[in-house]
Amino acid sequence: MAKKILIIHGPNLNMLGTREPKVYGRVTLKKIDSELKKYAKKEGVEIETFQSNIEGEIVNAVQKAKKRFKAIVINPGAYTHYSVAIRDAISSVKVPTIEVHLSNIHAREEFRNRSMIAPVAVGQISGFGMNSYILGLKAAIDLIK
Ligand code: DQA
Repeated sequence: MAKKILIIHGPNLNMLGTREPKVYGRVTLKKIDSELKKYAKKEGVEIETFQSNIEGEIVNAVQKAKKRFKAIVINPGAYTHYSVAIRDAISSVKVPTIEVHLSNIHAREEFRNRSMIAPVAVGQISGFGMNSYILGLKAAIDLIK
């Protein structure tokens, strides 16, 4: 299997650029994906990116990753805080998964402080804007090399 990494963006991340710029900045999802692709190319790995607002579609993407990807980098958006289904999918497939967030979820509202995903992830990177994704991808690459 080629060294392929799946990037998953959860709900509302398609709105980046105009969505709460004070919290998430002005960067668009398209820009994040193109920076990730550039970084991956430099490092000699392939990535595929996927965004969905629908929990079940994210579960399907995680399940399918088992056969095709060596690692997953996921920003589960609001599902972070309550999706047992996404957590169970990650722990079932056993594809090493890195959780990333643009904002520092531990410095925000109390309901965002808890992640259902963190206990089944290799680790979590939170609070560095677009760089959280780049750092997450770097961590994923280091894991699979
Ligand atoms: C987020 C943080 C979540 O609490 C929020 O629901 C998001 C984005 C982040 O990247 O900072 O949609 O995952």
